[in-house]
Amino acid sequence: MKHLISIDQLGRNGIERILDRAASFGSVASREVQKVPALRGRLVVNLFYESSTRTTSSFELAAKRLSADVISIRSSGSSVDKGESLKDTITTLDAYEPAAIVVRHPRAGAADLVARWTRAAVINAGDGAHAHPTQALLDVHTLRQRFGELDGLRIWIVGDIAHSRVARSTAAAFGLMGASVTLCGPPTLLPPGIGAALGCRVVTNLADLGEADVVYALRMQHERMQGGDVPSLNEYAALYGITADRLVANQVVMHPGPVNRGVELAGDVVDSAHSLIGEQVAAGVAVRMAVLYELLAGVEKDDRVREAATA
Ligand code: NCD
Repeated sequence: MKHLISIDQLGRNGIERILDRAASFGSVASREVQKVPALRGRLVVNLFYESSTRTTSSFELAAKRLSADVISIRSSGSSVDKGESLKDTITTLDAYEPAAIVVRHPRAGAADLVARWTRAAVINAGDGAHAHPTQALLDVHTLRQRFGELDGLRIWIVGDIAHSRVARSTAAAFGLMGASVTLCGPPTLLPPGIGAALGCRVVTNLADLGEADVVYALRMQHERMQGGDVPSLNEYAALYGITADRLVANQVVMHPGPVNRGVELAGDVVDSAHSLIGEQVAAGVAVRMAVLYELLAGVEKDDRVREAATA
């Protein structure tokens, strides 16, 4: 596998291979020197055309813990502001001969395009509402750490399914790992056919939420909404907000972050013992180390040049 664009590229075996390695990288954080030399002398470029806190910082940290050199570029403050095209930006960065480019972009399909324009391995860190495979991997990792395996686990993904790349990647990964997934949200935020496409049940109210082992809340993605998808955030919160009184004992709550407290998740739930949000953030580093390792370790620079020449 040269690039990681979508979770569908990895079957259950691929997910397990990467996450077993992530588990072994988990201990690097607690060492005196928080590094392993696996990618010494290799360059990882983070290129973010959308805002990000967790994904960009954890990719940067993951690359550094593997001893790679890292450059992180955000579209604002770079020549993108001056109108440079994505292709020209990639051509420019390619001149530094990076081993990997991690890219986030508001358009679905952008990571796939980048993969055509560079010799580097490309990792999709989120492209529009299409895919966010490393989020899916870290979510599975978090649940494996809590429950062992996901087989038979009942997982409800609640909220703005329509605009969520996390929902698409994470629901697919949970399904591949044997969980039974329910998508829940207002009908206006549930695209027709999404249940069949992802192999999930679809419901439009929280009446049966008590059956869930895991409640995965999604952020309301105002930046992708045309307006009118929900009457108001207050109304959304009243009908779909995950509050303490809607949860039963032993349910765990997840969220990819950033949370709109009081909208999709009540603030006290975020801070409660139900919450695995901190575990998700911590998992992000080890999982992204494992993804970088999977794509780069053992592949010499010359192999990449040869692969590109014969592609
Ligand atoms: C998600 C994203 O950007 O897709 N955040 C993340 O990567 N942690 C989800 C979101 O923005 O709601």
